[in-house]
Amino acid sequence: MKLIFLGAPGSGKGTQAKKLAQILNLEHISTGDILREAIKEQTSLGVQAKVYMDVGELVPDEIILGLIKEVLTDGNKGFILDGFPRTTTQAVGLENILSESGMGIDKVLNLNVSDSAIVERLTARRLCDNCGSEYNLKTRPPAIDEVCDNCGGKLYRRDDDSAEVIQNRLLVYHRKTEPIKNFYRSRGLLADIDGNQDFDEVFGSITRAVADIK
Ligand code: AP5
Repeated sequence: MKLIFLGAPGSGKGTQAKKLAQILNLEHISTGDILREAIKEQTSLGVQAKVYMDVGELVPDEIILGLIKEVLTDGNKGFILDGFPRTTTQAVGLENILSESGMGIDKVLNLNVSDSAIVERLTARRLCDNCGSEYNLKTRPPAIDEVCDNCGGKLYRRDDDSAEVIQNRLLVYHRKTEPIKNFYRSRGLLADIDGNQDFDEVFGSITRAVADIK
């Protein structure tokens, strides 16, 4: 099964994609996670990407498409793409990469969430600097303030989860990413999911949307 999770920053792509990938034994490919890892390792990709990510802009298409070409080497295994594609150029590039190996996307899950809910979610997100566990001060708070329940590590806020950068990420999403909904709708691949529901309800809608894929 080959899926794309589409949606605004904070719409729940990562949360839902990780769970579905685990249950269906699919590879979870998040371009955001790959880029953050590159920043941590201070590779040349990371140095280039940081400039854009810090201000909530998109990393240039040619860099992202080069990265995806390297990652999508195993033609047989199913995968979930999380946070890619984000522009029409990336969507066309993906179609070309996959068609070279006779593959195609089965479905695009589009998580719809209001901008106001997104701002609330992202300003409350915290991560553990040791084990990477995720928390949300409103919906999944740690037992002790700023301390990871899992390993005792210190919790931090992602650099791009400041109120100012969130506003720009939303602007960029509406301007550059939202138009690709029509790209996939015209191919009969788009499934709209109400991402404003609670975690389990969203997951239920997603599993129903993929149930007919062989
Ligand atoms: P990326 O890491 O992809 O970030 P994003 O798209 O902004 O998405 P997030 O990870 O912030 O949110 P999410 O939708 O995964 O939601 P989550 O499940 O975490 O990209 C970061 C940057 O990298 C980009 O800005 C760009 O610069 C660059 N980049 C990446 N890919 C690129 C590409 N293809 N092209 C160019 N540049 C690229 O949930 C968020 C919070 O909400 C959590 O706290 C969670 O607990 C909570 N939550 C989730 N679901 C619910 C729910 N149903 N109810 C209540 N709370 C919920």
